[in-house]
Amino acid sequence: LDNGLARTPPMGWNDWNAFGCNVTEQLVEQTADYLVSSGLKDAGYQYVNIDDCWMTSARNAAGQLVPDPVKFPDGISGTAAYVHSKGLKLGIYESAGTATCAGYPGSLGHEQTDANSFAAWGVDYLKYDNCNHQNVPDQQRYTAMRDALAATGRPIVYSLCNWGLADVWTWGAGVGNSWRTTDDINVNFSTVVSIYKANVKLAAYAKPGAWNDPDMLEVGNGMSFTEDRSHFSLWSEMAAPLIAGTDLRKATAATLSLYGNKDVIAVDQDSLGKQGTEISNSGGLHVLSKPLANGDVSVVLFNENSSAATITTSATAAGLPSASSYKLNNLWSHVISSTTGTISASVPGHGSVMYRVSAGSGTSVGTTHPLIGASSN
Ligand code: DGJ
Repeated sequence: LDNGLARTPPMGWNDWNAFGCNVTEQLVEQTADYLVSSGLKDAGYQYVNIDDCWMTSARNAAGQLVPDPVKFPDGISGTAAYVHSKGLKLGIYESAGTATCAGYPGSLGHEQTDANSFAAWGVDYLKYDNCNHQNVPDQQRYTAMRDALAATGRPIVYSLCNWGLADVWTWGAGVGNSWRTTDDINVNFSTVVSIYKANVKLAAYAKPGAWNDPDMLEVGNGMSFTEDRSHFSLWSEMAAPLIAGTDLRKATAATLSLYGNKDVIAVDQDSLGKQGTEISNSGGLHVLSKPLANGDVSVVLFNENSSAATITTSATAAGLPSASSYKLNNLWSHVISSTTGTISASVPGHGSVMYRVSAGSGTSVGTTHPLIGASSN
């Protein structure tokens, strides 16, 4: 959506994957504090997003949504003020239906009233779900809220959540800043892989201001470290919104080393705004390539299978110009090496190796600056 927002994929946190309906002001504010103290804010995480279940079960006499006074004693406006005081932004959730998925009042037919409430409260991001849609066409429901948000005059990132229905990628760029391309993610490697396979095909539709959304991150929620690292690598290579979905307050150093890898984040956030594509897939051994603004290319070697395998490609196959040598910056191990063209690694089962590749002497590759001292192999 050409509203000047989300020129790179939105980054932040959302409570749903880790807490479901148990969202509270305290959780949101503690997470905001933690984003600052951990350095994740400085790494780019900006939006602190509230999902379903934040409101009371009925509108007020004026027809407005009411924040649950027990969960949010200071309301959404008080919560937003706190989050803003930390230099962060606040996101909220509604559904383009008569009720949210958890059964709270929906925004269908109340778009302007609700957009006005969000703007008055200081909301900076809206995730707009698809439950209870009453068979009103998707494009009509999502466009109504787009126009209502615009009419408030407040800059609000608009995240469409209609689960990849109605070929949303074909019209999403005119309506929202991102659109979900699939059903819900969960803490399961095969789900992550199937979402990856659906989302990677849609690269042509992504651009600054308009992103494919393969759903929020499950990093830290129970998959193996190797699987979590693949999940984060693939989402970054696909220029996906990076919305952390774990209880960051309790995250391990290993989990933080994934969320906080600034070199990988730089691939996601690259200003060229191209989603990576799959350049080969041989029996579950995938090679992805993402062109970057300075002429480098990010290459991911991803092993979908459970046993280790060698995955091989070449710099020119990845889209680099022909050159006598290339530099490879391994973005997870931080080892820099050179090659005359072959890009190859032994990749553990379910694992990924991610390189930033530059042609020639590659002075630009030495950007290694991990957030957390914890090194990962
Ligand atoms: C479905 C969405 O896809 C999820 O991300 C979450 O927002 C739930 N609804 C909330 O009910």
